[in-house]
Order: sequence, then structure tokens, then C-alpha cells
Amino acid sequence: MANTLTFLGIESSCDDTAAAVVRHQLGGSAQVLASIVEGQTALHADFGGVVPEIAARAHAERLDHCVERALSQAGLRLADLDGIAVTAGPGLIGGVLSGVMLAKGLTAATGLPLVGVNHLAGHALTPRLTDGLAFPYLMLLVSGGHCQFLIAHSADKFERLGGTIDDAPGEAFDKTAKLLGLAQPGGPLVQAEALHGDAKRFAFPRPLLDRAGCDMSFSGLKTALLRARDAILAEKGGLTVQDRRDLCAGFQAAVADVLAEKTRRALAVYLALSPEVPAFAVAGGVAANTAIRAKLETVCADNGAAFFAPPLALCTDNAAMIAWAGIERFRSGGRDDASLSARPRWPLDATAAPMLGSGKKGAKS
Ligand code: KG4
Ligand code: ZN
Repeated sequence: MANTLTFLGIESSCDDTAAAVVRHQLGGSAQVLASIVEGQTALHADFGGVVPEIAARAHAERLDHCVERALSQAGLRLADLDGIAVTAGPGLIGGVLSGVMLAKGLTAATGLPLVGVNHLAGHALTPRLTDGLAFPYLMLLVSGGHCQFLIAHSADKFERLGGTIDDAPGEAFDKTAKLLGLAQPGGPLVQAEALHGDAKRFAFPRPLLDRAGCDMSFSGLKTALLRARDAILAEKGGLTVQDRRDLCAGFQAAVADVLAEKTRRALAVYLALSPEVPAFAVAGGVAANTAIRAKLETVCADNGAAFFAPPLALCTDNAAMIAWAGIERFRSGGRDDASLSARPRWPLDATAAPMLGSGKKGAKS
């Protein structure tokens, strides 16, 4: 096999149409030669969520354009590639199908190898693309649709230690913002308000800390926030600037405490494997939260694990992670052909108990 591999990656599993080109030299580091992401936020804005049919149509319309832009940014032609990797699931089936059909068409036309990639494996392998982490490492995926702890043992073996049984934390941040009249996406705005708030004014719960293991729950926290808000509204008829700040601070502190404690537990399971270079990586939109990130860094420092957080553009949905995961699969013999199918559900760890709630059905899960 060639020492240097250059792969095109295609991603269309939710509301981001993306194409990227990644090059990797065996024994060296990987380079993202191009990464194009065309979001669809405006298309879905009126509907309060991603509309699968609209998403699928937009992917079908834009994917080839995205691929052209990625190749042009990388200064390459299709003939310069060594393979094409595509998200084959999990995700919204219409979108995943658009990507898989395009990838099949391109490989049929060029004779290039086709590699189907699990979207979650793309997220989970990103710390190897950005920081060259060695297996095994511990990973926390935490975004608007993801929330799970994984031990990455190899490019195709992931062990899920736990995850949310209902909302993902980003979803809870977004709902909190909505309840407090802040714009979407809510995470950055809730963080900004929390900066000036008193986290101790409201006694928000720390769900599931009383239960052993690494599972989490965030929907009760949102309900607690709703009650606290309604109590203020009933008493004073409105929220002051300080009320809003205190509610945000209390909510954010509760999410941070839960993630920190569950990370401590996940690290204990991981460290029992005696990894040579203990490493913890956090990825996903919520990893941008400075208060949460600081808590996780402290937990890692206390436990002797190095802390990594890939740049946000490679943590949120993108195709560079798909190209990279494709290269990893290809190097370990992974190949697909025209029979590759799109899978709406595709757990990374088929041996783990299925997740409940949005962890299972979420569009980005
Ligand atoms: O990874 P991402 O872009 O998309 C997926 O959901 O897969 O994550 C977006 C989520 C949103 O829910 C957003 O509110 C949240 O990440 N987020 C944050 C922050 N920045 C983005 N949550 C908390 N604090 C932040 N600073
Ligand atoms: Zn994702």
C-alpha cells in the first residue's frame, strides 16, 4: 500500500453538506488539504429543527459543488486521489443516501476505492488526525446531538462506557436559551450570561450522579430551569438581567459538574487498562464552553491524563474527519463496493446496551 494516501471525504448525515481532502503519510502527521462545510441552518430556521426531506434535497443539490470546491481548494483532480470515504450512517437516511450515491458514482467513474465510514467513528478518530493520539484513548463526544464516553481501542473498535439517556447537553443549552428568550444556538449565549451570574442562587439538580456508571441525563435539568424561571415570573412578572444571568450560571454549573464527575468515572475505567500515554479528548460544540472545558482539564490533571480538544471546526460536523476515518479504515484493510448501504442507525459499539431517548433517535446521534 502507498505510504502516502490522499482521500476525499463526503459528509451529509444531518444538516451540514461537507467535502474535504486529507493526506496522510505513514508514520507522519496528517494534513487537511481542504475542508468545505455548507451549513443549512437558514433552510430549517422556520421549522424549529432539521426537516429531513429539506436536508436531503439540499445535500443532493450541493454535494457535487462541495466536492468540486474541496478539490479546487486542495489543488487536486479526482485522478490524484487514492480513495473516497463517505459517511454511510448513522444519520438522516435521505442525506446519508445522497452522499453514498455520489461516492458510488465517483468511484464507479474513476475506479478509486470506496470506504464507508461511521459518522461517530469520524468524530472519535479526530484526535488522531489533529494530535496524533495513540490508542487507547478516552473520548467524550458532547454536542447538540451527541453525548457519550468512548474508549478508542483501534480504528474499528470503540467501547462505549456510557452516554445520555435523554437530551444531549448542547440540546439542553439550546432549550435553556429558548426558555430565557436568548437566540439560537444557545450555548455561547448561555455561557456569556453565566459569566456574570451567581451559580449558587438556584439549587439545580446533578442528575444521575447517585447512579453508578457513566450514563447521564439532562432533560430534568431543563425542567428544573423552567420551574425556577416560572417561579420568578409568578413572583415578579418578569426576569431581570441578573435573574437571567443567575439562571444561566446555575444551569451551566450543573452541566459542568455532571460532565466532570462522569469524566472522572470514565477515566477510572480507562486508566485501569494501563495505557502507556493516558489521554482524554473532548469533541463537539459543547467542548467550546470554557467553564466545562476548565473542569474537564482539572479532572484530567488530577488523574494524570493529558487533555486534548481538537479545533472546533474539526469537532463539529465536517468531512475531514470522514476522509481521515476512511484512511484509517483503508490502512487496516477496510473496503466497500457498490453494495454499500446507508444506515440510519449504526452504533459504534454494538455490544453496549442501546441508549434511550434522543441519544438513540437524535438526528446527529
Ligand atoms: O457539534 P455541534 O456544532 O453540532 C452538533 O450538535 O452535532 O454542536 C452544537 C451544539 C449546540 O447545541 C450549541 O448550543 C452547543 O453545541 N454549543 C455550546 C457552546 N458552543 C456551542 N454549548 C455550550 N457552551 C458553548 N460555548
Ligand atoms: Zn456529528
